[in-house]
Amino acid sequence: MKNSKRFVALLMAGVMSTAVFAGCSAQNNTEPVEATTQSVKSGSIDYMALVNKTHALPDNWEKQLKTVHIKNSVGDDVEVEKKAYDAYLKLKADLKKDKIEVDLDSARRSVAEQQRIMDDFTKKYGADYAAKTVAKPGYSEHHTGLALDLYLIINGKDVTENEDMIKYTKIWATIHKKLANYGFILRYLEGSEHITGYGYEPWHIRYIDDVKTAKEITDKGITFEEYLGTASGKKVTIDYGSSKLYKKDDLESAVIQIKCKFAFYDGFELSAIRYAGDNYATDKKLNEIKKADPKSKYTDIAKFLMDFRTSKNTGDTKLKPDTDYKDYECWLARTKDDGWEVLDFGG
Ligand code: DAL
Ligand code: ZN
Repeated sequence: MKNSKRFVALLMAGVMSTAVFAGCSAQNNTEPVEATTQSVKSGSIDYMALVNKTHALPDNWEKQLKTVHIKNSVGDDVEVEKKAYDAYLKLKADLKKDKIEVDLDSARRSVAEQQRIMDDFTKKYGADYAAKTVAKPGYSEHHTGLALDLYLIINGKDVTENEDMIKYTKIWATIHKKLANYGFILRYLEGSEHITGYGYEPWHIRYIDDVKTAKEITDKGITFEEYLGTASGKKVTIDYGSSKLYKKDDLESAVIQIKCKFAFYDGFELSAIRYAGDNYATDKKLNEIKKADPKSKYTDIAKFLMDFRTSKNTGDTKLKPDTDYKDYECWLARTKDDGWEVLDFGG
Protein backbone atom coordinates (compact mmCIF):
# COMPACT_ATOMS: atom_id res chain seq x y z
CA MET A 1 0.00 0.00 0.00
CA LYS A 2 1.20 3.44 -0.89
CA ASN A 3 -0.45 5.27 1.96
CA SER A 4 1.20 5.63 5.33
CA LYS A 5 -0.31 3.60 8.11
CA ARG A 6 -0.95 4.56 11.67
CA PHE A 7 -2.56 2.02 13.89
CA VAL A 8 -5.02 3.37 16.34
CA ALA A 9 -6.23 1.08 19.05
CA LEU A 10 -9.82 2.10 19.33
CA LEU A 11 -11.69 1.29 22.46
CA MET A 12 -14.97 -0.39 21.84
CA ALA A 13 -16.60 1.67 24.51
CA GLY A 14 -18.60 -0.35 26.95
CA VAL A 15 -19.14 -3.31 24.68
CA MET A 16 -15.52 -4.33 24.47
CA SER A 17 -14.80 -3.92 28.14
CA THR A 18 -16.97 -6.91 28.98
CA ALA A 19 -16.33 -8.95 25.90
CA VAL A 20 -13.97 -11.85 26.08
CA PHE A 21 -13.54 -11.62 22.34
CA ALA A 22 -15.55 -9.08 20.50
CA GLY A 23 -15.20 -11.11 17.30
CA CYS A 24 -18.16 -12.83 18.85
CA SER A 25 -19.82 -9.81 20.34
CA ALA A 26 -22.63 -7.48 19.47
CA GLN A 27 -20.57 -4.63 18.08
CA ASN A 28 -22.47 -3.47 15.06
CA ASN A 29 -22.04 0.20 15.57
CA THR A 30 -18.76 0.10 17.43
CA GLU A 31 -15.33 0.96 16.14
CA PRO A 32 -13.02 -1.65 14.66
CA VAL A 33 -10.23 -2.83 16.94
CA GLU A 34 -7.68 -1.19 14.76
CA ALA A 35 -8.37 1.56 12.30
CA THR A 36 -5.79 2.58 9.77
CA THR A 37 -5.51 6.27 9.08
CA GLN A 38 -4.38 7.10 5.61
CA SER A 39 -3.94 10.43 3.97
CA VAL A 40 -3.88 11.55 0.37
CA LYS A 41 -0.97 13.52 -1.03
CA SER A 42 -2.08 16.59 -2.88
CA GLY A 43 -2.59 16.25 -6.61
CA SER A 44 -4.44 12.99 -7.00
CA ILE A 45 -6.35 10.32 -5.18
CA ASP A 46 -4.72 6.92 -4.74
CA TYR A 47 -6.71 4.57 -6.96
CA MET A 48 -5.33 1.61 -4.98
CA ALA A 49 -6.50 2.95 -1.59
CA LEU A 50 -8.03 0.32 0.66
CA VAL A 51 -11.22 1.26 2.47
CA ASN A 52 -12.84 -1.48 4.53
CA LYS A 53 -13.96 -2.31 8.09
CA THR A 54 -10.52 -1.48 9.48
CA HIS A 55 -9.35 1.14 6.98
CA ALA A 56 -11.22 4.43 7.00
CA LEU A 57 -11.46 6.81 4.05
CA PRO A 58 -8.07 8.54 3.73
CA ASP A 59 -7.92 12.08 5.09
CA ASN A 60 -8.25 14.87 2.53
CA TRP A 61 -9.77 12.46 0.01
CA GLU A 62 -12.69 14.75 -0.78
CA LYS A 63 -10.40 17.68 -1.58
CA GLN A 64 -8.63 15.67 -4.30
CA LEU A 65 -11.65 13.86 -5.67
CA LYS A 66 -13.00 14.86 -9.08
CA THR A 67 -16.47 13.56 -9.81
CA VAL A 68 -19.26 13.71 -12.35
CA HIS A 69 -23.00 13.60 -11.66
CA ILE A 70 -25.32 11.55 -13.85
CA LYS A 71 -29.00 10.62 -13.84
CA ASN A 72 -29.72 6.88 -13.98
CA SER A 73 -32.68 5.18 -15.68
CA VAL A 74 -34.84 5.51 -12.57
CA GLY A 75 -34.08 9.24 -12.36
CA ASP A 76 -31.69 9.18 -9.40
CA ASP A 77 -28.63 11.42 -9.27
CA VAL A 78 -25.43 9.34 -9.07
CA GLU A 79 -22.01 10.84 -8.37
CA VAL A 80 -18.94 8.98 -9.65
CA GLU A 81 -15.20 9.64 -9.77
CA LYS A 82 -14.36 10.93 -13.27
CA LYS A 83 -11.98 8.22 -14.51
CA ALA A 84 -14.09 5.47 -12.99
CA TYR A 85 -17.10 6.82 -14.87
CA ASP A 86 -15.25 6.86 -18.21
CA ALA A 87 -14.16 3.25 -17.62
CA TYR A 88 -17.71 2.31 -16.62
CA LEU A 89 -19.09 3.72 -19.90
CA LYS A 90 -16.66 1.49 -21.83
CA LEU A 91 -17.70 -1.54 -19.77
CA LYS A 92 -21.38 -0.69 -20.32
CA ALA A 93 -20.85 -0.43 -24.10
CA ASP A 94 -19.01 -3.76 -24.15
CA LEU A 95 -21.83 -5.45 -22.17
CA LYS A 96 -24.38 -4.08 -24.60
CA LYS A 97 -22.73 -6.21 -27.30
CA ASP A 98 -23.75 -9.23 -25.18
CA LYS A 99 -27.25 -7.75 -24.81
CA ILE A 100 -26.63 -7.01 -21.14
CA GLU A 101 -27.86 -3.67 -19.91
CA VAL A 102 -26.62 -2.18 -16.66
CA ASP A 103 -26.97 1.15 -14.94
CA LEU A 104 -25.53 2.81 -11.83
CA ASP A 105 -27.53 2.46 -8.64
CA SER A 106 -25.08 4.17 -6.34
CA ALA A 107 -21.45 5.22 -6.49
CA ARG A 108 -19.95 8.02 -4.37
CA ARG A 109 -21.71 8.51 -1.05
CA SER A 110 -21.08 11.09 1.63
CA VAL A 111 -20.69 9.96 5.25
CA ALA A 112 -24.16 11.42 5.97
CA GLU A 113 -25.72 9.41 3.12
CA GLN A 114 -24.05 6.23 4.38
CA GLN A 115 -25.45 6.93 7.85
CA ARG A 116 -28.96 7.25 6.39
CA ILE A 117 -28.57 3.89 4.61
CA MET A 118 -27.22 2.27 7.78
CA ASP A 119 -30.15 3.63 9.85
CA ASP A 120 -32.64 2.48 7.25
CA PHE A 121 -31.20 -1.06 7.06
CA THR A 122 -30.90 -1.33 10.86
CA LYS A 123 -34.55 -0.34 11.25
CA LYS A 124 -35.76 -2.68 8.51
CA TYR A 125 -33.56 -5.73 9.00
CA GLY A 126 -31.80 -5.42 12.36
CA ALA A 127 -28.27 -4.39 13.29
CA ASP A 128 -26.48 -7.62 12.39
CA TYR A 129 -27.91 -7.84 8.89
CA ALA A 130 -27.06 -4.15 8.44
CA ALA A 131 -23.47 -4.79 9.59
CA LYS A 132 -22.88 -7.49 6.96
CA THR A 133 -24.53 -5.45 4.21
CA VAL A 134 -23.81 -1.79 4.86
CA ALA A 135 -20.46 -0.27 5.81
CA LYS A 136 -20.14 1.91 8.86
CA PRO A 137 -20.12 5.60 7.86
CA GLY A 138 -16.52 6.66 7.26
CA TYR A 139 -15.55 3.09 6.36
CA SER A 140 -17.48 2.62 3.12
CA GLU A 141 -15.63 2.15 -0.13
CA HIS A 142 -18.45 4.21 -1.64
CA HIS A 143 -16.95 7.33 -0.03
CA THR A 144 -14.07 7.04 -2.50
CA GLY A 145 -16.25 7.50 -5.59
CA LEU A 146 -14.46 4.44 -7.01
CA ALA A 147 -17.01 1.84 -5.86
CA LEU A 148 -19.95 1.41 -8.20
CA ASP A 149 -23.15 -0.51 -7.48
CA LEU A 150 -24.67 -1.73 -10.74
CA TYR A 151 -28.25 -2.71 -11.36
CA LEU A 152 -29.65 -4.71 -14.23
CA ILE A 153 -32.16 -3.75 -16.87
CA ILE A 154 -33.86 -6.93 -18.00
CA ASN A 155 -36.20 -6.70 -21.00
CA GLY A 156 -36.45 -2.97 -20.43
CA LYS A 157 -37.36 -3.40 -16.74
CA ASP A 158 -35.17 -2.01 -13.96
CA VAL A 159 -34.09 -4.73 -11.52
CA THR A 160 -32.71 -2.80 -8.57
CA GLU A 161 -33.45 -4.84 -5.43
CA ASN A 162 -30.54 -6.95 -4.16
CA GLU A 163 -32.65 -10.07 -3.63
CA ASP A 164 -33.91 -9.87 -7.24
CA MET A 165 -30.57 -9.01 -8.83
CA ILE A 166 -28.67 -11.82 -7.14
CA LYS A 167 -30.71 -14.43 -9.03
CA TYR A 168 -29.20 -13.46 -12.41
CA THR A 169 -26.07 -15.52 -11.86
CA LYS A 170 -25.21 -16.05 -15.57
CA ILE A 171 -25.48 -12.33 -16.34
CA TRP A 172 -23.26 -11.46 -13.38
CA ALA A 173 -20.70 -14.08 -14.49
CA THR A 174 -20.50 -12.39 -17.91
CA ILE A 175 -20.18 -8.96 -16.31
CA HIS A 176 -17.47 -10.15 -13.92
CA LYS A 177 -15.40 -11.62 -16.76
CA LYS A 178 -15.20 -8.21 -18.42
CA LEU A 179 -14.46 -6.04 -15.36
CA ALA A 180 -10.68 -6.24 -15.37
CA ASN A 181 -10.43 -5.11 -19.02
CA TYR A 182 -11.60 -1.69 -17.84
CA GLY A 183 -9.65 -1.52 -14.55
CA PHE A 184 -12.41 -2.83 -12.27
CA ILE A 185 -12.42 -5.68 -9.74
CA LEU A 186 -15.24 -7.45 -7.95
CA ARG A 187 -14.90 -6.48 -4.33
CA TYR A 188 -17.04 -8.75 -2.12
CA LEU A 189 -16.34 -12.33 -3.12
CA GLU A 190 -18.38 -15.32 -2.05
CA GLY A 191 -16.52 -17.24 0.67
CA SER A 192 -14.22 -14.32 1.56
CA GLU A 193 -16.57 -12.66 4.05
CA HIS A 194 -14.02 -13.04 6.88
CA ILE A 195 -11.62 -10.88 4.84
CA THR A 196 -13.93 -8.33 3.22
CA GLY A 197 -16.44 -8.23 6.10
CA TYR A 198 -19.45 -8.34 3.81
CA GLY A 199 -21.69 -10.89 2.18
CA TYR A 200 -21.36 -11.62 -1.54
CA GLU A 201 -22.28 -8.58 -3.66
CA PRO A 202 -22.14 -9.31 -7.41
CA TRP A 203 -23.11 -5.70 -8.15
CA HIS A 204 -20.41 -3.87 -6.17
CA ILE A 205 -17.40 -3.21 -8.40
CA ARG A 206 -14.29 -1.18 -7.63
CA TYR A 207 -12.22 0.89 -10.03
CA ILE A 208 -8.45 0.61 -9.47
CA ASP A 209 -7.22 2.37 -12.66
CA ASP A 210 -4.82 -0.43 -13.56
CA VAL A 211 -5.91 -3.09 -16.03
CA LYS A 212 -2.86 -5.32 -15.43
CA THR A 213 -3.38 -5.41 -11.65
CA ALA A 214 -7.14 -5.85 -12.04
CA LYS A 215 -6.46 -8.85 -14.29
CA GLU A 216 -3.99 -10.31 -11.79
CA ILE A 217 -6.46 -9.98 -8.89
CA THR A 218 -9.29 -11.44 -10.98
CA ASP A 219 -7.25 -14.33 -12.37
CA LYS A 220 -6.02 -15.28 -8.91
CA GLY A 221 -9.58 -15.06 -7.55
CA ILE A 222 -8.37 -13.12 -4.53
CA THR A 223 -9.72 -10.17 -2.59
CA PHE A 224 -8.24 -6.67 -2.77
CA GLU A 225 -7.09 -7.15 0.84
CA GLU A 226 -5.10 -10.27 -0.08
CA TYR A 227 -3.52 -8.49 -3.05
CA LEU A 228 -2.48 -5.58 -0.82
CA GLY A 229 -1.21 -7.98 1.84
CA THR A 230 -3.50 -6.94 4.69
CA ALA A 231 -5.07 -10.41 4.83
CA SER A 232 -3.74 -13.87 4.19
CA GLY A 233 -5.51 -16.13 1.75
CA LYS A 234 -5.46 -19.03 4.19
CA LYS A 235 -8.37 -21.38 3.62
CA VAL A 236 -11.07 -21.49 6.28
CA THR A 237 -12.41 -24.97 7.06
CA ILE A 238 -16.13 -25.01 7.75
CA ASP A 239 -17.69 -28.00 9.50
CA TYR A 240 -21.48 -27.91 9.73
CA GLY A 241 -21.57 -31.21 11.59
CA SER A 242 -25.02 -32.76 11.67
CA SER A 243 -28.08 -31.03 12.97
CA LYS A 244 -31.69 -31.97 13.38
CA LEU A 245 -32.53 -28.47 14.63
CA TYR A 246 -31.21 -26.46 11.70
CA LYS A 247 -31.07 -26.82 7.93
CA LYS A 248 -27.79 -26.36 6.09
CA ASP A 249 -29.01 -22.91 4.92
CA ASP A 250 -29.52 -21.80 8.52
CA LEU A 251 -26.04 -22.91 9.51
CA GLU A 252 -24.51 -21.36 6.37
CA SER A 253 -26.03 -17.97 7.12
CA ALA A 254 -24.79 -18.22 10.72
CA VAL A 255 -21.26 -18.90 9.45
CA ILE A 256 -21.38 -15.89 7.10
CA GLN A 257 -22.50 -13.77 10.04
CA ILE A 258 -19.52 -14.94 12.13
CA LYS A 259 -17.14 -14.34 9.22
CA CYS A 260 -18.43 -10.81 8.62
CA LYS A 261 -17.77 -9.95 12.27
CA PHE A 262 -14.32 -11.45 12.12
CA ALA A 263 -13.25 -8.89 9.50
CA PHE A 264 -13.39 -6.19 12.21
CA TYR A 265 -10.06 -7.59 13.45
CA ASP A 266 -7.27 -6.43 11.20
CA GLY A 267 -4.66 -9.12 10.70
CA PHE A 268 -6.49 -11.85 12.65
CA GLU A 269 -6.35 -15.10 10.72
CA LEU A 270 -9.36 -17.39 10.79
CA SER A 271 -8.70 -21.06 10.05
CA ALA A 272 -11.85 -22.97 11.07
CA ILE A 273 -15.47 -22.64 12.12
CA ARG A 274 -17.39 -25.64 13.45
CA TYR A 275 -21.01 -26.07 14.49
CA ALA A 276 -20.75 -27.30 18.09
CA GLY A 277 -23.91 -29.42 17.97
CA ASP A 278 -27.63 -29.40 18.77
CA ASN A 279 -27.07 -30.46 22.37
CA TYR A 280 -25.84 -26.94 23.23
CA ALA A 281 -29.03 -25.24 22.02
CA THR A 282 -30.92 -25.87 25.23
CA ASP A 283 -33.91 -23.96 26.64
CA LYS A 284 -31.78 -23.22 29.70
CA LYS A 285 -29.15 -21.45 27.57
CA LEU A 286 -31.80 -19.65 25.50
CA ASN A 287 -33.37 -18.30 28.71
CA GLU A 288 -29.96 -17.26 30.00
CA ILE A 289 -29.34 -15.32 26.75
CA LYS A 290 -32.79 -13.73 26.84
CA LYS A 291 -32.25 -12.72 30.47
CA ALA A 292 -29.05 -10.95 29.48
CA ASP A 293 -30.97 -9.03 26.81
CA PRO A 294 -34.54 -8.70 28.14
CA LYS A 295 -35.73 -6.77 25.07
CA SER A 296 -34.80 -9.62 22.74
CA LYS A 297 -37.35 -12.11 21.46
CA TYR A 298 -34.89 -14.83 20.49
CA THR A 299 -36.36 -18.18 19.56
CA ASP A 300 -33.23 -20.01 18.36
CA ILE A 301 -29.65 -20.23 19.52
CA ALA A 302 -26.57 -21.95 18.10
CA LYS A 303 -23.06 -22.50 19.31
CA PHE A 304 -20.03 -22.54 17.02
CA LEU A 305 -16.33 -23.06 17.69
CA MET A 306 -13.61 -21.10 15.97
CA ASP A 307 -9.88 -21.54 15.43
CA PHE A 308 -7.94 -18.36 14.69
CA ARG A 309 -4.66 -16.57 15.19
CA THR A 310 -4.50 -13.06 16.58
CA SER A 311 -2.35 -10.28 15.14
CA LYS A 312 0.25 -8.12 16.86
CA ASN A 313 -2.37 -5.62 17.96
CA THR A 314 -5.34 -7.15 19.77
CA GLY A 315 -6.72 -3.80 20.91
CA ASP A 316 -9.08 -4.19 23.86
CA THR A 317 -10.07 -7.77 23.14
CA LYS A 318 -8.22 -9.34 26.11
CA LEU A 319 -6.66 -11.77 23.67
CA LYS A 320 -2.92 -12.34 23.52
CA PRO A 321 -1.11 -11.00 20.45
CA ASP A 322 0.28 -13.42 17.87
CA THR A 323 -1.42 -16.36 19.52
CA ASP A 324 -3.36 -19.36 18.20
CA TYR A 325 -6.79 -19.87 19.71
CA LYS A 326 -8.60 -23.16 19.24
CA ASP A 327 -12.22 -24.12 19.97
CA TYR A 328 -13.14 -20.55 20.78
CA GLU A 329 -16.85 -20.36 21.61
CA CYS A 330 -19.18 -18.22 19.60
CA TRP A 331 -22.90 -18.00 20.30
CA LEU A 332 -25.54 -16.81 17.88
CA ALA A 333 -29.23 -16.16 18.36
CA ARG A 334 -32.11 -15.24 16.12
CA THR A 335 -35.74 -14.31 16.35
CA LYS A 336 -38.16 -16.27 14.22
CA ASP A 337 -37.95 -15.06 10.59
CA ASP A 338 -34.95 -12.83 11.34
CA GLY A 339 -31.27 -13.41 10.62
CA TRP A 340 -28.69 -14.61 13.12
CA GLU A 341 -26.97 -12.23 15.48
CA VAL A 342 -23.53 -12.92 16.90
CA LEU A 343 -23.82 -12.46 20.66
CA ASP A 344 -21.58 -10.99 23.30
CA PHE A 345 -20.89 -14.38 24.81
CA GLY A 346 -17.40 -15.77 24.64
CA GLY A 347 -15.58 -18.87 25.72
N1 DAL B 1 -22.46 -2.30 0.71
C1 DAL B 1 -21.14 -1.83 0.97
C2 DAL B 1 -20.41 -2.78 1.85
C3 DAL B 1 -21.15 -0.46 1.59
O1 DAL B 1 -22.13 -0.11 2.25
O2 DAL B 1 -20.17 0.24 1.46
ZN1 ZN C 1 -21.67 -1.05 -3.04
